[in-house]
Amino acid sequence: MPSLNDIRSTFLNYFETNGHEVVDSSPLVPRNDPTLMFTNSGMVQFKNVFTGVEHRDYSRAVTSQKCVRAGGKHNDLDNVGYTARHHTFFEMLGNFSFGDYFKRDAIPFAWDLITKEFGIDKDKLLVTVFHTDDDAADIWKKHAGLPDDRIIRIDTADNFWSMGPTGPCGPCTEIFYDHGDHIWGGPPGSNDEDGDRFIEIWNLVFMQFEQFEDGHREDLPRPSIDTGMGLERIGALLQGSHDNYDTDLFRALIEASAHLTNVDPYGEQNVHHRVIADHLRSTSFLIADGVMPSNEGRGYVLRRIMRRAMRHAHLLGAQDPVMYRLVPELVTQMGQAFPELGRAQPLIEETLKNEETRFQQTLDRGLRLLDDELGKLPDGAALPGEAAFKLYDTYGFPLDLTQDALREKGRSVDTEGFDAAMAEQKAKARAAWSGSGETADAAIWFDLAEEHGGTEFLGYDTEVAEGQVLALVDGGKRIDAAKAGASVQIVVNQTPFYAEAGGQVGDSGELRTDTGAARITDTKKSAGVFIHFAEVIEGQIETGQGAELTVDHDRRTRIRANHSATHLLHEALRRHLGDHVAQRGSLNADDRLRFDFSHSKALSLSEIKMVEEEVNAFVRQNTPVETRIMTPDDAREIGAQALFGEKYGDEVRVVSMGELDGSDKGTDRKTYSIELCGGTHVRRTGDIGLFVMLGDSASSAGVRRIEALTGEAAFRAMSDQDHRLAEVALQLKAQAAEVPDRVKALLDERKALKSEVATLRRELAMSGGGGAAAPDAEKVGDVSFVAQKLDGVSGKDLPAMIDEHKARIGSGAVLLIADAGGKAAVAAGVTPDLTDQISAVDLVKAAVAELGGKGGGGRPDMAQGGGKDAENAAAAIAAAKTILEG
Ligand code: ALA
Repeated sequence: MPSLNDIRSTFLNYFETNGHEVVDSSPLVPRNDPTLMFTNSGMVQFKNVFTGVEHRDYSRAVTSQKCVRAGGKHNDLDNVGYTARHHTFFEMLGNFSFGDYFKRDAIPFAWDLITKEFGIDKDKLLVTVFHTDDDAADIWKKHAGLPDDRIIRIDTADNFWSMGPTGPCGPCTEIFYDHGDHIWGGPPGSNDEDGDRFIEIWNLVFMQFEQFEDGHREDLPRPSIDTGMGLERIGALLQGSHDNYDTDLFRALIEASAHLTNVDPYGEQNVHHRVIADHLRSTSFLIADGVMPSNEGRGYVLRRIMRRAMRHAHLLGAQDPVMYRLVPELVTQMGQAFPELGRAQPLIEETLKNEETRFQQTLDRGLRLLDDELGKLPDGAALPGEAAFKLYDTYGFPLDLTQDALREKGRSVDTEGFDAAMAEQKAKARAAWSGSGETADAAIWFDLAEEHGGTEFLGYDTEVAEGQVLALVDGGKRIDAAKAGASVQIVVNQTPFYAEAGGQVGDSGELRTDTGAARITDTKKSAGVFIHFAEVIEGQIETGQGAELTVDHDRRTRIRANHSATHLLHEALRRHLGDHVAQRGSLNADDRLRFDFSHSKALSLSEIKMVEEEVNAFVRQNTPVETRIMTPDDAREIGAQALFGEKYGDEVRVVSMGELDGSDKGTDRKTYSIELCGGTHVRRTGDIGLFVMLGDSASSAGVRRIEALTGEAAFRAMSDQDHRLAEVALQLKAQAAEVPDRVKALLDERKALKSEVATLRRELAMSGGGGAAAPDAEKVGDVSFVAQKLDGVSGKDLPAMIDEHKARIGSGAVLLIADAGGKAAVAAGVTPDLTDQISAVDLVKAAVAELGGKGGGGRPDMAQGGGKDAENAAAAIAAAKTILEG
């Protein structure tokens, strides 16, 4: 009996042999479709290839596509566990022709595969065709030899397949298997078609048209083929069963669940094992594709599936988390076909375990409340909406979980009452918000958030994605369209653009629609809504349009490197300066990074060198940067650095990088940097390239600021520095390595020369050289007085000259005025025998007053001062004389 893995391989090999390129499944989060929550069929990744917008270097392809149908238009969540064929996650096998072959080959390919390769009995097969599709009917008749009564014409949308309200579409033909008359049900198109006897196994779509928003259709450039066959369904058939959960893969998962919970896999409780097996697949694949549990959008669908599974585990009596322990079995079963599963295994296990641990705390209490409420109601009455809302709001019960719990009891929920309670809570939130002092301008973002929910950020995983234009805002008002030249703010439902937060600047790039293009210059957020600041550069952008958003890759790459380097820097500073180092602010821009942290003194050169070297060592280590979601408490427990004074929600994103050898500071800590952070980071530390600190400065009291560069900018800064050093070396006629010694020698020499020059000047002045003869002492009253104005002598030289004059005259007073480029320095001296009568300080003060200065001071035998008018030297000398005259 072929396993599901065998069947998948047979399918892929068969079409590969027939000239098809085997293409990997695309991720579950569609990058190219803004209206689709999850990839729900094989053709999603080829949507633009069908319409001719995108070209690939093959025209035939085959895939086994991961699909999720939970949330959004196709939602099978409620039925999973209770039916034989509903799944939240399934694989769609499909072959595709992009303008290559059409009906005439597609039908024979399919027929030969199922009847020859898979060996299905022809007599059990029948097909449907669109009622006007004579060609298809004819091919079935000729190639498969099917009689007319087994080619059923259907005139409804069942045989016209479209991806959604817009996009490629066309008539289809479906292949059915008849399980025999012991099972109730009628052929397609009959009144009993919903029975289980006739099961559709393969849908072949003849893609011919593109459907537009206004309802009209246009021919595709060339007719194409898109087919879809559920692997689980064909698997059940080929394994002789009617029930998808009765296949090798599901049996393995169900048995693993039974083993862990100690509950018979195929007994009465089987439904719970089925739910767990199905939900394990969807949650694990969603997490592997970058979806994280949250309270909005895709993250909320994931959370709902997880919690639903947990309730069923609870019903099996599980006291401890179960789901995460089943992941290894899933990886064993599917890891080879989908290597991303194995790569993400630790992340999947941890995310499941966290969610399970947390939800377990409220699950019990919520279920008790539910029982109490039901006890109060008459038999069969619906649960009041308020009670369901309380379960949602206080105990984290998604509405569908409550409905699922009630379904077993044959009860329902008053969903209108639930909606009303939800609306009331929103109104309260709004009232609280208006009172919080936010400006009226911000009201528009709040309104948009209420209307559409927050913007979903796709930019951790992709830089290009499609989004739907929800609003164009100009001057605080919503407009329908913006033409080339206009500056507007654009809101989309999902975006790869990072909105400024946590020190990381907003992304820039381009947004394109069918009718125009805009340059996005910045992205910010308010009330959870991402605001793209845009300049329309071509045509016009309209509200409601689908748009392709492309982040400026080079800029984002530089921002990423700077942000990751900031984390390494933070840790290096803590390790080298001490645990008091806490982040006080940061900027992660495209051209540099800035990090402010608490520390009271400047970093020494050796500290800067150590920090810089350590960061670069981790850059060279080139280990992967890891991101996880956990509760703030768990994050703190593993040693995550949190921002001082920051408020965190129920769950936080934790970014880790750098590996330690396990003997770190006597602990067994394995990771170098662990921080709570919502930013975008490099994949591996080596992507930072190089880290260079530009220096450290004071930012405010007790806070230092470091600026640094990474990657090419760091290299350029180092290289520029190197060139400058080379220039200096050239001028010094030295090697670069000798420059520090040579500069020191030059500075020493300069100092020696300066003092020699001063001595020489003094000697020159004293010896009458330099045009200024040493004056003789004149008698002022009884006192010998020497006074002189000197050019080219510095104020510093004056005291020594005063002493020389004093020695020469033996007894008396001296006043010297140095003219330094118009400014005056003045010094006065009095010999010791006269200091009782005359003070040098008085002489200086009198002179300073004339020289346009203030003050002057010293001791009675020697004083100094200065002024700005050296040309008044004569008046200054006269003023000193007046004092001597007494
Ligand atoms: N796209 C087609 C389907 O999903 C094949 O049924």
